[in-house]
Amino acid sequence: MGQPVISATGLWTPPNSVSNAELVESYNAWADRWNADHAEAIAAGEVQPKPHSSVEFIEKASGIKSRYVVDKTGVTDPEIMAPRIPERPDDEISILAEIAVKAAREALDRAARKPEDVDAVLCAASNMQRAYPAMAVEVQDALGIPGFAFDMNVACSSATFGIQTAADFVRAGHAKSVLMVNPEICSGHLNFTDRDSHFIFGDVATAVLVEDEAIAPAAHWKILHTQLKTQFSSNIRNNFGFLNRAAPEGEGQPDKLFVQEGRKVFKEVVPMVSQMILEDMETLDLAPQALRRLWLHQANANMNRLIAARVLGHEASEEESPTVLDEYANTSSAGSIIAFHRHSGDFQPGEKGLICSFGAGYSAGTVFVEKAG
Ligand code: COA
Repeated sequence: MGQPVISATGLWTPPNSVSNAELVESYNAWADRWNADHAEAIAAGEVQPKPHSSVEFIEKASGIKSRYVVDKTGVTDPEIMAPRIPERPDDEISILAEIAVKAAREALDRAARKPEDVDAVLCAASNMQRAYPAMAVEVQDALGIPGFAFDMNVACSSATFGIQTAADFVRAGHAKSVLMVNPEICSGHLNFTDRDSHFIFGDVATAVLVEDEAIAPAAHWKILHTQLKTQFSSNIRNNFGFLNRAAPEGEGQPDKLFVQEGRKVFKEVVPMVSQMILEDMETLDLAPQALRRLWLHQANANMNRLIAARVLGHEASEEESPTVLDEYANTSSAGSIIAFHRHSGDFQPGEKGLICSFGAGYSAGTVFVEKAG
């Protein structure tokens, strides 16, 4: 039976950053136009005017200060308010696979692993570019990886579900080296004309190489324990699908883009996740002091503050629960992996931490790791 470990991670960040001020300026210009276009109906009391968005609200309510996007022009143009990412011909690599490959190459380089020695690819993300063929198979082909590949979607929890799936393949002896990628072009499912959520998401790609300890590089992360949990809720939802084919854009069909009851999500997910982590710590007989760091899902800074406090028993420092949300915004499944990738280089052998994600479904996943080598 194989012993699964994390050999390396990779990160690809888009070149374009959009500040809250830039995003709010374009939203407010869009809202002013909308109000002018609907002046009569507003005056007659038939529709409500669109109020302005505010930088102060966004930062206070979420902790987000900026986000990276694949297409800055479209999302900041009040006449477009959506990313404009041209479709590519079928003989060109698709953009989701392309960014996954960029993150994957970094993970493979860091582990000094050749693609031909990888056995499987999992593409775990909130939004796949198409129904089929699987994005994972395109990534596999682009890298020259033998074996098998498939996509999986567990929304914001996709990466932790992907890590456990990869770990199970290693344990079962079906693979010794599994590449798990999380390409997230979240700007594509975001309604930039919705004041409540226009600021939430950003684009990025991450990769995690899960391998059998027997072939892993000396410096790796032991996977001590994982747990996955789901509980149905419509509070985070996107109804876009193959049975509704009209263009999923703008105000016309807001339910075919990301929608949420943010307050309810906040209230329901914080206890669900804190309890899950505390249960895991009991199973592992792990005291809070034995956990050096929590790499939490990056959706809301206030949520993370509460979860970390419940788990650690005190207000967490930035070193104990690092934030990448301020720079990247919510990048769905990739958030906790960015935090881990960016803030784990200082760990000494024997030190332990937790990668944890949560989101739509509801879904939540924990991956307890220990630095080795
Ligand atoms: N600019 C200014 N004001 C805004 C605003 C904006 N962009 N968006 C909303 N507001 C206003 C609202 O109209 C409301 O005004 P009111 O009090 O006069 O009615 C007020 O701010 C509070 O709005 P609310 O939606 O209750 O804010 P919130 O404090 O719950 O914060 C979220 C909103 C989305 C940041 C927060 O609920 C959240 O992050 N929840 C968790 C979501 C999550 O993790 N989702 C997972 C996604 S994968």
